[in-house]
Amino acid sequence: NGQCGNSRGALIVLEGLDRSGKTSQSSRLLPYLEGLGFPVELWRFPDRNTCVGEMISSYLANKSQLDDQTIHLLFSANRWEKRDCGHYKDKNRLAERSLMETKLRSGTTLIVDRYSYSGVAFSSAKGLDIEWCKAPEMGLLAPDLVLYLDIPPEKAAERGGYGSERYEQLEFQKKVAECYKILQDATWKTVDACLPMEDVERQIRESVLDCVTTCQKGRTLSKLWL
Ligand code: TMP
Repeated sequence: NGQCGNSRGALIVLEGLDRSGKTSQSSRLLPYLEGLGFPVELWRFPDRNTCVGEMISSYLANKSQLDDQTIHLLFSANRWEKRDCGHYKDKNRLAERSLMETKLRSGTTLIVDRYSYSGVAFSSAKGLDIEWCKAPEMGLLAPDLVLYLDIPPEKAAERGGYGSERYEQLEFQKKVAECYKILQDATWKTVDACLPMEDVERQIRESVLDCVTTCQKGRTLSKLWL
């Protein structure tokens, strides 16, 4: 258990439609991994605490209007700004390394509630070209594991009802679900999000433990969609 030597942390992303349970599951995963002695942090995108994040938040609350391309690039910029956090001394040269990468290499596992897949799925569901949507995400760190919480859009809509945010509409969420399907790759693990919460949690824990162990053994960190 816990951290050993120079082993790195895992980059674990939770994805899914609005109301699929990502936020509940990621906040349950955090104390579980902490309890096992792993250094771990919970992140989420959009990060509404930055200047870019405030613009995104205002757009989502329908308080401002932006065209589809602009908001897409803001969501992406919000990931890049969290990646790019300064410099550190590496032997005798000044190397640049992201906050995200530094954390992972120092052994911290990151649980991330939404990432580039949300960016591409939501924007391409509006009709933007999928390759155009992927382009600004290229070069961000690739997750070691993407947990996709799979739920029929109708079921998600029944869960406590949607709030007032821009994308919380059934017809739109159906399109998002189709776009997510196109993005699945070898790092994805699909979990049936209609199962009881404890069962979803158990499946997530198993996959995550597996992934964290593989990363400790030295799985290479790679870049997204290059
Ligand atoms: P949240 O409810 O998880 O905070 O996400 C806010 C909304 O933003 C949600 O409907 C998904 C959407 N979204 C995008 O359209 N692009 C993105 O890159 C991200 C991270 C979220």
